[in-house]
Amino acid sequence: MDKELLLQVKNLNKFFLLKKSLREKNRVYVKAVHNVSFDVYRGETLGIVGESGCGKSTLGRSILRLYEPTSGDIIFNNENIMAYDATRLRALREDMQYIFQDPYSSMNPKMTIRDIIMEPLDNFRKEMNVKAKEDRVAELLEIVGLSRDVMNRYPHEFSGGQRQRIVIARGIALNPQLLICDESVSALDVSVQAQIINLLQELKKRLNLTYLFISHDLRVVKFISDKIMVLYLGEIMEIASSDDLFAAPRHPYTKSLIGSISSGDPRAKHTRVILEGEIPNPMNAPKGCPFSTRCPIATEKCRVEKPALVELEPDHFASCFYV
Ligand SMILES: Nc1ncnc2c1ncn2[C@@H]1O[C@H](COP(=O)(O)OP(=O)(O)OP(=O)(O)O)[C@@H](O)[C@H]1O
Ligand SMILES: [Mg+2]
Repeated sequence: MDKELLLQVKNLNKFFLLKKSLREKNRVYVKAVHNVSFDVYRGETLGIVGESGCGKSTLGRSILRLYEPTSGDIIFNNENIMAYDATRLRALREDMQYIFQDPYSSMNPKMTIRDIIMEPLDNFRKEMNVKAKEDRVAELLEIVGLSRDVMNRYPHEFSGGQRQRIVIARGIALNPQLLICDESVSALDVSVQAQIINLLQELKKRLNLTYLFISHDLRVVKFISDKIMVLYLGEIMEIASSDDLFAAPRHPYTKSLIGSISSGDPRAKHTRVILEGEIPNPMNAPKGCPFSTRCPIATEKCRVEKPALVELEPDHFASCFYV
């Protein structure tokens, strides 16, 4: 079967202006997302990984235009959503849902579970009556593995894993095509992480979903992703299938990320490089390769020139002069 392109991100930039000035040269920007391009096929899970502050959430939010991108194109279902007006953008929320980083703060503690999950139905399914919406909430609770009896309870009465299930129920209420999960399991214990990941895998099949799965934890991303994109200071260092990335990482940053997880995976051993040093201040990012200040093999060239993202093998891209 031919793969169907669902999302295409082209040269996406999101810069935050930190210091205003009339003169361009005196303005200070954080280039939170810098020239990012990638494709996602329907039914795929793309893992987005990188250390804190590398731009994962900014990228996720920019794709939904929750943050207005500085430039670039976002093609979803063959339409460039950068051209959408407010009305069409609102309608797009049905098809693309964002599951926020912290489930506790993304739920109003004073609302019942029923009202939390019903909120998107209230906003987008005005034709449904209350009974129909309640039935849908009950169905969604069951889909995510909770009993319909919890409807009248409040978020604080639930464990982290259960809260994550509730947030997922809300996220799928409108039958989206694309779900962007931002650190959806990061705050959970390992055993609960596995349960939520299993749930997401199940839902993906059952509801024909496509995921962007954001996490700073490569171990988590590995389990769920078909493809993995490694970000550093807002730029793509490497993209490959999950299997290729772990079996044969090409970028020194990916190698050090893999090296810094004690995976017990014998294939990872030969690439063990431990990350040293601090991430540079993003306001003052290196001119050449963003990783050059921490890279064990960086040369003068890397410090002044930016390597392009090159396809080294089919569907395996890395941006490094020395791969
Ligand atoms: N609203 C904002 N205004 C200014 N700078 C911002 C804003 N949001 C994010 N940034 C900056 O953009 C960069 C990327 O931040 P982002 O939150 O996207 O990273 P992240 O990869 O999601 O990090 P984490 O793993 O901690 O969630 C950081 O340097 C951050 O300080
Ligand atoms: Mg984040």
